[in-house]
Amino acid sequence: MFTMDLSGQVAVVTGGANGIGKAIVDALRYSKAKVAVVDVHPNQQKTDNDLLYIQADVTQKSEINKMVDQVIDTFGRIDILVNNAGISTMDYFVDIREEDWDKTMDVNAKGVQLCSQAIAKKMKQQGDGGKIINIASQAGKNGYRLMGSYVASKHAVIGLTKVMALELASDQINVNAVCPGIVETSMKHRERELGGKLRNLDGNAIKEEDISQVPLGRTGTPEDIAYVVIFLASKFSNYMTGQAINVTGGMTMH
Ligand SMILES: NC(=O)c1ccc[n+]([C@@H]2O[C@H](COP(=O)([O-])OP(=O)(O)OC[C@H]3O[C@@H](n4cnc5c(N)ncnc54)[C@H](O)[C@@H]3O)[C@@H](O)[C@H]2O)c1
Repeated sequence: MFTMDLSGQVAVVTGGANGIGKAIVDALRYSKAKVAVVDVHPNQQKTDNDLLYIQADVTQKSEINKMVDQVIDTFGRIDILVNNAGISTMDYFVDIREEDWDKTMDVNAKGVQLCSQAIAKKMKQQGDGGKIINIASQAGKNGYRLMGSYVASKHAVIGLTKVMALELASDQINVNAVCPGIVETSMKHRERELGGKLRNLDGNAIKEEDISQVPLGRTGTPEDIAYVVIFLASKFSNYMTGQAINVTGGMTMH
């Protein structure tokens, strides 16, 4: 009764091939959920009875609708959606390139809207409620230099989380966001490289700077984020909706 047992539940995780998404997939599987991994990357994971890998781009409505049908055909239902796919671009505000802005908003914000819309419709038809978990960022609450497109896209995700929570509440579909801080993934390593070039600093110096901003004295791991996602996917969070939860080692407190 008091275990995070998700057996019988079906989860879809976007961007589940790498980084935070991969840790979420592993944690869901450990909790006995069946998982569909949706990613633009070609399949790197062994597919078995409880794991389905679908190559799809979250910005393409037709691919997402096809993906949802494939998950229902295979597993029969969808109970949990984790909108995790995301990208980041870096530049000074005055230099932001239109294509970087568009791509960032498309993947990070429109992708959440498209996947949530397609899957919320199925959850409503199923009539058993559901859990939608959006991986936003502390960049959805604060401004960060060099990250104009990303910060705007993550503010959009938190705003959409609140609207979805309101509109889906009567169907017992909980919608919450998780706001990671600084997490060691290939996205973060690339940001340090790009940020280093723009600021004339070594990537290691930026890592030291990152650590110095975290009250708990370390950067995050993908697993730190996955644990909170599992809580939000479970019955232990049934009375929570419309929240944007910081998992930042104390770096953001509002
Ligand atoms: N790493 C951090 O410090 C950090 C901090 C806050 C929030 N986040 C957020 O966490 C999420 C995961 O980030 P990460 O650090 O694991 O990044 P990552 O680059 O390691 O992984 C992102 C995954 O998303 C996939 N993806 C990208 N575009 C896609 C698309 N159009 N359709 C489907 N899949 C796509 C990639 O192929 C990749 O597998 C993102 O939303 C990111 O913004 C990360």
